[in-house]
Amino acid sequence: MAKLLRAGVIGAGNMGQNHARVYSEMDDVELVAVADPVQESLNRMAQRHRVRTYSNYRLMLEREQLDLVSIVVPTQYHFAVARDVLCAHVPALVEKPIAATMEEGCALIALGKQLGVMFTVGHIERFNPAIIALKSQLALGMLGRIYQIHASRLGPFPARITDVGVVIDLATHDLDILHYITDANIVRLHAEVGRRLHTAHEDMLSAILRFDNDVVGVLDINWLTPTKVREISVIGERGMFVANYITQDLTLFENEAAPQGTDYHQLAVMGVSEGRAIRFKINKREPLREELEAFVMAVRTGNPPPVRGEDGLLALALAQKLIEAGANGGTMLLDQGHGFEWPPVDLAQPSPAYVVQSAPVAANGHS
Ligand SMILES: NC(=O)c1ccc[n+]([C@@H]2O[C@H](COP(=O)([O-])OP(=O)(O)OC[C@H]3O[C@@H](n4cnc5c(N)ncnc54)[C@H](O)[C@@H]3O)[C@@H](O)[C@H]2O)c1
Repeated sequence: MAKLLRAGVIGAGNMGQNHARVYSEMDDVELVAVADPVQESLNRMAQRHRVRTYSNYRLMLEREQLDLVSIVVPTQYHFAVARDVLCAHVPALVEKPIAATMEEGCALIALGKQLGVMFTVGHIERFNPAIIALKSQLALGMLGRIYQIHASRLGPFPARITDVGVVIDLATHDLDILHYITDANIVRLHAEVGRRLHTAHEDMLSAILRFDNDVVGVLDINWLTPTKVREISVIGERGMFVANYITQDLTLFENEAAPQGTDYHQLAVMGVSEGRAIRFKINKREPLREELEAFVMAVRTGNPPPVRGEDGLLALALAQKLIEAGANGGTMLLDQGHGFEWPPVDLAQPSPAYVVQSAPVAANGHS
């Protein structure tokens, strides 16, 4: 049996509890420690898992011999915590979004490269079996030419998220997935954002994106809907795929007017009419489990992680463009580099300002 890898989790809130549970369920991983400043959260973790708990994550990094760490703290702290983990030479998975700002995201990528320490971002939807099946069906050409992609991510207001708005928190999922499944760049975007309940940030987004392969993307994202919706539909000349992230269902609504056959690239489609609805058989699995298994595998083999820091940075950059377009009331043209120089800094040459070592740890940091 392969050597057990020792995992740590920083942040024992809503999502951190899931990271801890998933690591504790893996045969080839030992969840050894969890850090969070809130004692109650640590007590809950200690009740559920045989772990050492720390109120100061830096002390955890100093005392534990960790092989990998999940960083599951509020977005505003991603940079500071991930920087310290990388500086401790521990492979890091930071939850999405990569960081609160582009500068911070760039600095983390550069730091990982400079130190030769693996750094990845938790873009969990890439590991959703329905999305994996959708991507492979599209790659086979099942829809022929793609016209439009609609992404809906709606739900109730999460009072605990105060540091960022819905565009940074949720739209980054869809921006990453749209880029992942189209493999295309956005050249123009229009965004309407609004703030209805949140005290500081936007809580709704309606956006239209045009990709350089002519696909149009529509994003409908908010924290104002009493029921949770997580869906993506892809419309093309041969029909429409609908994937539900929650149920992991994938359905193809065929265009009966499209010529039958498997040579999808050759047959011209002259009309649209309702055809069969085909439900795909999906082997349902927990996306977080898939994501963390991929991270563990990358750490074990030294191969690159499936989600690169640059992928996380691109999603954040595009989310910021949507906020900017929304604030300025309109449409924004992006050049080939997504409206900013790409990569935005020389990622091989980190800004020295960000390469700082951890501050000394308070002696009483251990809980
Ligand atoms: N991938 C997903 O689908 C998904 C879902 C939810 C949240 N998230 C991401 O996970 C992160 C956390 O979100 P959440 O919903 O769990 O938030 P949360 O508020 O429930 O939990 C955050 C936890 O971090 C702790 N914390 C704060 N500062 C810390 C520090 N310096 N050291 C250690 N712990 C610290 C807090 O005490 C809290 O327990 C966010 O970045 C969010 O975007 C991702």
